[in-house]
Amino acid sequence: MSTLQTESTLNSIRTADLSQAIVKANVALQNNVKPFSGDFFRQCFAVAEAEERIEQYFNRAIGNPTGFYMFFQRYTHFNAYTSAVISRLASSIAMSRYLFNDPTVAVVEEADRGFNLAAKIMIAASDEGTNDGAPHRTLAQLLLRTLGDYAELSVAERNQFANVPAWLTEICNGIMEGYAGVPGDAASLIRSMGFHAASELFGDIEYGLLDKVVRHDNKNVGFDAFLRKTPVAELCGHRYHPWGYVLVHASHQGAAGVEACHFECVVDALNMVADYRPESKEQIIEWALEGFEQFMSLEQDMFARVNEETQIFVKQLVREPALV
Ligand SMILES: [Fe+2]
Ligand SMILES: [Fe+2]
Repeated sequence: MSTLQTESTLNSIRTADLSQAIVKANVALQNNVKPFSGDFFRQCFAVAEAEERIEQYFNRAIGNPTGFYMFFQRYTHFNAYTSAVISRLASSIAMSRYLFNDPTVAVVEEADRGFNLAAKIMIAASDEGTNDGAPHRTLAQLLLRTLGDYAELSVAERNQFANVPAWLTEICNGIMEGYAGVPGDAASLIRSMGFHAASELFGDIEYGLLDKVVRHDNKNVGFDAFLRKTPVAELCGHRYHPWGYVLVHASHQGAAGVEACHFECVVDALNMVADYRPESKEQIIEWALEGFEQFMSLEQDMFARVNEETQIFVKQLVREPALV
């Protein structure tokens, strides 16, 4: 998405994307695609095209060590918000009494299933803390530190990137708002579950692509060669390799990481919602698709802008090396 798009252009594109997604959802359902599955969301939205763009961004970013540091700093800044807000969504659902009820149970107090849904989201929220180990944020910081070492950046040079641009803060605020959900408001919570589903589906895609671009497509050269010589670090009483941050989430051709599991959990929650709410399945699907589209739009905007910012920075860096 271009940074030159005006707010109204952006809104009309989003509305068009959503109405197309609803049409595609109906086609998918007629073809017996299970609602709220990876296939379902992939058929409703242009996920494959987004995936291609993300791979291109990673491929461009890796071309310059300082540019890659900048790109990754922006990316981990964004991800720190998406990770932090998952527990708010879990809490918003758990705080909602008598909103999600099992219709087969006659006693209202016994039928309340908010916590059963919230538990599915809490798995993702708790993984961000990894129990006794290093939180994912700490693992991201280790990888960023390693990238800074690879780019041979001084402390002052690294710190200049902590001044994130206003547009990134705006996008992160949009993430916090869309993700958290409003307790007691079924439409808001279902939209936020769709938002969370997009976050986990794209998390699985993004980390898998990072692993592909760094460790497979550029095997033994550049950052991969540097990573192979980098020792493990002791963090929070455990030993971690810097690339562990990526692999714990997803890998290319390797075992599934936590993002795939988190996505399946939210898919389970959405399928449970369809049984626990009086609205039609069509209405629940529409709310979930709205949330999915909202996250995808913010995430795609983030990548496009970070890519643009990084490329401009790298071009200036080549002309004036003193910039960093
Ligand atoms: Fe994470
Ligand atoms: Fe996750």
